[in-house]
Amino acid sequence: MSAPITALPPSLESALSQMLGPVGMLVDASDTAPYTRDWRLLYEGRCAAVLRPADTGELARIVALCAEHDVPIVPQGGNTSMVGGATPDASGRAVVVCTSRMNRIREIDPHDLTMVVEAGVTLKAAQDAARNAGLMLPLSISSEGSAQIGGVIATNAGGNNTVRYGNARELMVGLEAVMPDGSVFNGLRRLRKDNTGYALRQLLAGSEGTLGIISTVILQLQPQPRSRELALCAIADASAALTLFGAFRAQDPSAIQAFEYMSGVGMALVTDLIDGATLPLSEPAAAYVLVELASARADDSIRTLMESVLGDALENGLVIDAVMAESESQVASLWRLREEHAEAQKRAGANVKNDVSVPVSRVPALIERATAACEALIPGIRVAPFGHLGDGNIHFNLVQPEGMDPAAFLARDHDIMDCVCAIVHDLDGSFSAEHGVGQLKTYMMPEWRGGAELETMRRIKQAIDPRGIMNPGKIFPAAAS
Ligand code: FAD
Ligand code: MLT
Ligand code: ZN
Repeated sequence: MSAPITALPPSLESALSQMLGPVGMLVDASDTAPYTRDWRLLYEGRCAAVLRPADTGELARIVALCAEHDVPIVPQGGNTSMVGGATPDASGRAVVVCTSRMNRIREIDPHDLTMVVEAGVTLKAAQDAARNAGLMLPLSISSEGSAQIGGVIATNAGGNNTVRYGNARELMVGLEAVMPDGSVFNGLRRLRKDNTGYALRQLLAGSEGTLGIISTVILQLQPQPRSRELALCAIADASAALTLFGAFRAQDPSAIQAFEYMSGVGMALVTDLIDGATLPLSEPAAAYVLVELASARADDSIRTLMESVLGDALENGLVIDAVMAESESQVASLWRLREEHAEAQKRAGANVKNDVSVPVSRVPALIERATAACEALIPGIRVAPFGHLGDGNIHFNLVQPEGMDPAAFLARDHDIMDCVCAIVHDLDGSFSAEHGVGQLKTYMMPEWRGGAELETMRRIKQAIDPRGIMNPGKIFPAAAS
């Protein structure tokens, strides 16, 4: 047995390297570094090795071996977590298990409207495969080029089309996962109805890698829309956005594919900091809505609907100005204005994110009250909320005041998050709408989910992962010593 090169027990290290080889097992710091930092650069961990199984068999073997040696495992997909969920801690004891090599699209069935994909397939690749088959995977997030199906299900991702089709959990028909003892739970059944005990696949969706590693997923597809309309609207505020949402919903709720809210501050950061991002309206506004309508019918009913609702709204002043996309490139450039918000805020300086949700009717109150509270907390703070208004999900994100020391701003992150979340709590909302808890928000769990809820979650975790090797430090606050 060669000299150990990792912090792993030598017998485990040699078993893993024999099984995985140099492609499947990364140990050099330069190779493992990208896997130990999160997208927001909030966390930097260390790991004993990065393991990249080629299939479910290798993945099961890895987990069984790690369980035998009580070695913690951090499951990782595209590493686009916004809450540090896929980043190991600083101990260097854990292995990162990345699914990127498990990237086959196994089958698309046009009758069942399903696709069978491995966990390492990116969301974008899955969308493209569905489109090439004349169908649609109705899940869209700005990180879809990197986010992987396993991570998308593990976080129960939401995104732009949740308003019409639901979150990732609702689009997941079947699932296979490797459990913390290395056994394989095969729930790959493409059944609309299957009431045979606890729905384990639903428990694994949203479990953020703390209950098992998702290896294969069956996703529900939709017919490819044959008519689609997209419009960007300038509005006065979130109340106007809510009224406009109501106007479209009153006409045809099933037509609303996406209804995204953006603040004037956020849009200005995009047009200032993102190359080629320009505002196709006569002048900037205090807020905007991007609305997409679609239908499987190849007629002009969607265009008529868009024109009639927007026509009335422009006439009664609800909408100040609007532009409808007239080509695929205009569709892409309008969506880019929305999808580049996260990147623009990253470039603008230190920023604190609040991925929160409230009942849809209370979105205006949230934005109004949280804006006033944050501006009082840190004068000059740039308040740049945007998000999935149709779901009541707002990314109430704050960018540091111009000229402020980024570290000093970030040092106030809990003050800012608590300030915003106190208002969310008062509005009966959630402190994490779609990004999950990860390691960033564990401190909020006792206050928001304490008592029977958190205790039951701990019991489920203890029952399924008694050794506690699955993604330690995520979801659950450190147990009171
Ligand atoms: P990772 O970041 O690798 O992991 C996320 C979590 O899932 C971690 O806890 C990890 O341990 C666990 N995990 C990963 N793979 C597996 C697996 N196979 N089995 C079990 N656990 C696993 N999210 C939204 O919901 N909506 C959005 O609109 C959205 N927009 C975003 C925009 C940007 C620019 C960025 C950077 C992120 C955005 N996100 C959004 C957050 C993120 O992209 C999602 O949470 C996504 O689902 C994570 O997928 P991933 O493959 O990158 O997972
Ligand atoms: C998005 O919807 O683009 C992300 O979830 C938002 C974020 O950056 O907070
Ligand atoms: Zn989002």
